Amino acid sequence: MRVSIDVDRCQGHGRCELIAPDYFVVDDAGVGQVLRDEVADADRADVEEARFCCPEQAIAVGD
Ligand code: F3S
Repeated sequence: MRVSIDVDRCQGHGRCELIAPDYFVVDDAGVGQVLRDEVADADRADVEEARFCCPEQAIAVGD
């Protein structure tokens, strides 16, 4: 599974970083960035939760 952030939608809420800090970080400009775009099977639930919790629906996941 792969994950990405649409930086045009991201408003820097940071929930992604709180939920899955191995995969997301909010940069110095207040924009979410993906640290690892290939999601390990064991981390799928966390990354899916981050996607669900993003208020801007800026996170996309797919195979
Ligand atoms: Fe941005 Fe959503 Fe994360 S708004 S910082 S991708 S929770």
